[in-house]
Amino acid sequence: MKALIYQGPGKKDWVEKEKPELQKPTDVIVKITKTTICGTDLHILKGDVPAVTEGRTLGHEGVGIVEAVGSAVQNFKPGDAVLISCVTSCGKCPNCKRQLYAHCSDGGWILGHLIDGTQAEYVRIPHGDNSLYPIPEGADEEALVMLSDIMPTGLEIGVQSGRVKPGDTIAIVGAGPVGMSVLLTAQFYSPGRIVMIDMDPARLELAAQFGATDTIQVGAEDPVAQIMEMTDGLGVDVAIEAVGVPATFDICQKIVSAGGNIANVGVHGKSVELHIEELWIKNINISMGLVCTNTTPMLLKTLRNGKVDPARLVTHRFALDEILDAYEVFGNAGREKAMKVILAI
Ligand SMILES: NC(=O)c1ccc[n+]([C@@H]2O[C@H](COP(=O)([O-])OP(=O)(O)OC[C@H]3O[C@@H](n4cnc5c(N)ncnc54)[C@H](O)[C@@H]3O)[C@@H](O)[C@H]2O)c1
Ligand SMILES: [Zn+2]
Ligand SMILES: [Zn+2]
Repeated sequence: MKALIYQGPGKKDWVEKEKPELQKPTDVIVKITKTTICGTDLHILKGDVPAVTEGRTLGHEGVGIVEAVGSAVQNFKPGDAVLISCVTSCGKCPNCKRQLYAHCSDGGWILGHLIDGTQAEYVRIPHGDNSLYPIPEGADEEALVMLSDIMPTGLEIGVQSGRVKPGDTIAIVGAGPVGMSVLLTAQFYSPGRIVMIDMDPARLELAAQFGATDTIQVGAEDPVAQIMEMTDGLGVDVAIEAVGVPATFDICQKIVSAGGNIANVGVHGKSVELHIEELWIKNINISMGLVCTNTTPMLLKTLRNGKVDPARLVTHRFALDEILDAYEVFGNAGREKAMKVILAI
């Protein structure tokens, strides 16, 4: 079969590789029908995630058809259409029992990281019963691919950890696929005002179409001054960081109101300066974490009932064997006006 492999910092290739086989009774082999590329794959390619070794198949998102199941798999059989969660979980260990799937003692984020991932014709999914979801009849597969990672990330680590409530004024810093997923899922909770902050005017324009009530362009405008003006000097109820650099965390700590929440979603490679001397008196909460994908069943229901349309995030489509071209487009998202790319069989 063919797979997109990491070959060390800055290097990748679409190569012939052995088709994965069942290794444990709980494994499921899935034939990929649609997958995508995540910002995290770009981080890996830059060499930012040293746990990824050369030859590793990348990708942790996708949908497909069950090809084979191990003897202990109860929920799936060959031919079933499935959604692959970016987080693998046994469902039985102490952390899984608390739905803290990201910290499963025999799983977590391993796909396209510690084991071969989904940017291939076939993938082996450990603990298939708990790590795959049946695809509802007639569902939009492109929309479902957004449920592997970015939608649960936006909802769990941005919206739920940030405790977004009806009427709140919230700010989302970073209008990439993850920030956009925060924007889409925040609307389940009817915040009064949603301010999107980014430096890319095209992304801000898209955010306005997706429900942002206000946008602020970093570089052209001062986000802190603008937010203070908009909120009569109070700041926002919830400030959500969806970039992963010190500058954007800093915006969040400057715009959070008394009694508010800072929800950090971004993956940070450097420490940030925490202004505890100003924040201690404000009765705020700061949260951060890795997506657990415990909200996937809920997101599947919202998708089925038409309460959310994440397929709107898809801007580019390629055949799976054109994946190197897709990386070129996604890796130059600003220039290409790309948000999410779909790779299909
Ligand atoms: N916590 C988790 O479980 C989890 C899961 C998935 C992704 N992530 C992380 O979420 C973050 C966002 O992911 P993404 O795929 O949307 O990334 P992305 O790179 O596509 O988007 C980031 C956006 O931030 C904007 N930006 C960059 N610097 C900025 C600045 N100084 N001020 C304002 N805007 C700025 C960019 O223009 C871009 O639109 C990444 O750090 C990613 O690793 C976290
Ligand atoms: Zn991802
Ligand atoms: Zn577990």
